[in-house]
Amino acid sequence: MLKEKVEKILNLQITKEAYSSQLYLAMASWCEKEGYNGSASFLYRQSDEERMHMLKLLHYINDRGSHAIVDTLDKPACEFGSIRELFSKVLEHERFITESINECVEVCMTEKDYTTNQFLQWYVAEQVEEERNAQTIIDKLNLLGDDKARLYLFDRDMENFMVNAPTAQ
Ligand code: FEO
Repeated sequence: MLKEKVEKILNLQITKEAYSSQLYLAMASWCEKEGYNGSASFLYRQSDEERMHMLKLLHYINDRGSHAIVDTLDKPACEFGSIRELFSKVLEHERFITESINECVEVCMTEKDYTTNQFLQWYVAEQVEEERNAQTIIDKLNLLGDDKARLYLFDRDMENFMVNAPTAQ
């Protein structure tokens, strides 16, 4: 059974990962509506991946004899000023999630829960990838400026932009 503080912070993380999934779903929908079909496809994949992050935590908590809680979620933003603004929000959100994972690790260290700390290392590695991917996309967009033909090519490339995520167990 997990210690109370560890169970509590992991349950909060479940909600954050579930929110991430909803946020990326809302972003994918905006992209699709605006004709950015490649970016939409990337964000739909991201949304599925966040759901997997959430489920991995949920199963871990229950496997350890504690109780994973499915909580209510805030409504994500559904309007964005531009594709660049949207991906800036992705990076901002991933930075927030990285901090949140670090807080989970900190609680595990304080509570001397080294097993959960080891479990969380998968998320620590994942966050490095997620921040790097978002930064790469923003760097590309900054290079392109507002040229519509270039944005079209950017979006076409996003269709195959791969997320090099560590394999989920
Ligand atoms: Fe599950 Fe994008 O952090």
